[in-house]
Amino acid sequence: SLKIIILAGGGGTRLFPLSRTCFPKQFMKLGAEQSLLAQTITRFMPVAKVADMVIVTNQEYIHHVKAELAACGAMGAHILLEPVGRNTAPAIALAARYCIDELSAGEDEVMFVTPSDHIIRKNDLFIKSVRQAEEMARQENIVTFGIKPDKPEIGYGYIEADEEYGYGFRVKSFKEEPCQEVAEEYLAAGRYYWNSGMFAVTMGQIMREFSTHQPEIYQLASTNYTDALVQFESMPNISIDYAVAEKSDKVVTIPLLAYWNDIGSWDAIYDVLDKDQDGNAVKGDCIPIDCTNTLMLGRSRMIAGIGLEDLLVVETDDVIVVAKKGESQKVKDLVGELKQRG
Ligand code: GDD
Ligand code: MG
Repeated sequence: SLKIIILAGGGGTRLFPLSRTCFPKQFMKLGAEQSLLAQTITRFMPVAKVADMVIVTNQEYIHHVKAELAACGAMGAHILLEPVGRNTAPAIALAARYCIDELSAGEDEVMFVTPSDHIIRKNDLFIKSVRQAEEMARQENIVTFGIKPDKPEIGYGYIEADEEYGYGFRVKSFKEEPCQEVAEEYLAAGRYYWNSGMFAVTMGQIMREFSTHQPEIYQLASTNYTDALVQFESMPNISIDYAVAEKSDKVVTIPLLAYWNDIGSWDAIYDVLDKDQDGNAVKGDCIPIDCTNTLMLGRSRMIAGIGLEDLLVVETDDVIVVAKKGESQKVKDLVGELKQRG
């Protein structure tokens, strides 16, 4: 049966100061009833039993994960704890090994890998795409979900569509996080999709991909789950996008019909929140006077804004970030600066 691999070990800092390494985005609710992780688990309930779901995380987040499993009635899901963070490729290799050894998954069984920190709406359409992906994965493909791009975003992987195939396209090339210039070229060319970060593949095929493109990871993943866990620390630190997607000739893509947003920045948060008639998205104790198109997120103190336009204001106990709309990607630089200061 279909296995759902949920990656929940990242320490995303792009939503600083609200997300921190100790409380990354997947555990945040962002105005919804459920956290993004609980939303992710719930999203897959129509296609998989909770006992076929595997959450890959680490010791630091175990309490958050358990709380979220309880909150959405998914206590029966499996939790894998990586001894150290080695990015998504080793996490996925470990999960594949676990499915084969502990859940008796066969070579031809499909795993659907998903981040745990995205928003997806229109779940009936999404589930339809998941079933199509599962079907195409059985033909030894790595089935990604493509998102039609509307700006030259540099934080994403880009999928170059080739001829029509199955429910979507064969993929000519995959480029993870291109530079600004190249992203603009891709957008203008028109035949590129953003990589949504989700994919379907059989247990056998992902092992073959590691064996061909990542011999170090394969060596560990081809032993057994217990040994792979013990030796996990010696795995290379690499994302699945660089490790496999950029190198494999088995990548295909299905244009995703459902609404998708990876809310990877304060700009994206502004986009998903409800706005008042002046275009302000306001949460917490805030007083906007003559403000337009401004995000105000207050937690402990009042935010009073006068005449603000196109600003993003986020307040927490110890930090206030004020950013110009369109530039919130640079929160990454801010976090880098803070790390340097120690
Ligand atoms: N278990 C585990 N261990 N999970 C991890 C680790 C790890 O070491 N590192 C990251 N994750 C989880 C994150 O929590 C997240 O749910 C998911 O894996 C993806 O990691 P990100 O760090 O958010 O990746 P990204 O956003 O830079 O890029 C990916 O997503 C884009 C779309 O949002 C890539 O797949 C891009 O190609 C894609 O466009
Ligand atoms: Mg992400």
